Amino acid sequence: MAEIRIDKYLSVALSISRNEAKALLKGGKITADSKVVLKPETKVSETAEVKCGTETLSYKKHIYILMNKPEGILSASTDKRVKTVVDILPPHLKRAGLFPVGRLDKNTTGLLIITDDGDFGHKVTSPKSLIEKRYLAGLDGEVKPEYIELFKKGITLADGSECMSADLEILQGNNAIVTIREGKYHQIKRMFGVVGLGVNTLKRLSIGKLELPPDLQNGQVVELNPTQIQQIFE
Ligand code: URA
Repeated sequence: MAEIRIDKYLSVALSISRNEAKALLKGGKITADSKVVLKPETKVSETAEVKCGTETLSYKKHIYILMNKPEGILSASTDKRVKTVVDILPPHLKRAGLFPVGRLDKNTTGLLIITDDGDFGHKVTSPKSLIEKRYLAGLDGEVKPEYIELFKKGITLADGSECMSADLEILQGNNAIVTIREGKYHQIKRMFGVVGLGVNTLKRLSIGKLELPPDLQNGQVVELNPTQIQQIFE
């Protein structure tokens, strides 16, 4: 099992400098497997239970969290007025630098990834990535079969901007599944707006091959493992 100096562990886990970690150790609040650790050179196992006071820490360079985003919560790191997806994370997953990868509207629900890995975030949201994003949309009128071809050809939005080819699957009861390969502002709502339909509900079902787990309730989260992270790019 890999062992690391406690000051390095703390600087990674808490995104602080080694000097800040040393100061924290001096304060006597750090424990490893229930024993107080004071010396910065003390080695601990990567899997040791390290705590700062009552908060359990985690030694990982980056964290990747999948959330089933609830309605009414903002896709942002912080906001003065409204609760954000980072605010509602369970305490054991909170750390510095967390942000949502791409944005879902306040009233959109479903699959949202939250991470502190900027390079990863950029790779997923880059227009060059062409990663497929699937949404379930509830519309305020009939989704006509001729829209399939329109979406396939690429819709021109009201402001003249061109969308890439999108897939439209019509479901019963004014519902549809839309697959897009880019992420323009309010894209799905604006695409349906062009054919005169309003979007009542919108839920993201997948990004690449990574699916929203069907049993994950609104607001619940799971940490992604490397295999699941890879599915985003498949
Ligand atoms: N398209 C939208 O209109 N809203 C979202 O939240 C995501 C895609």
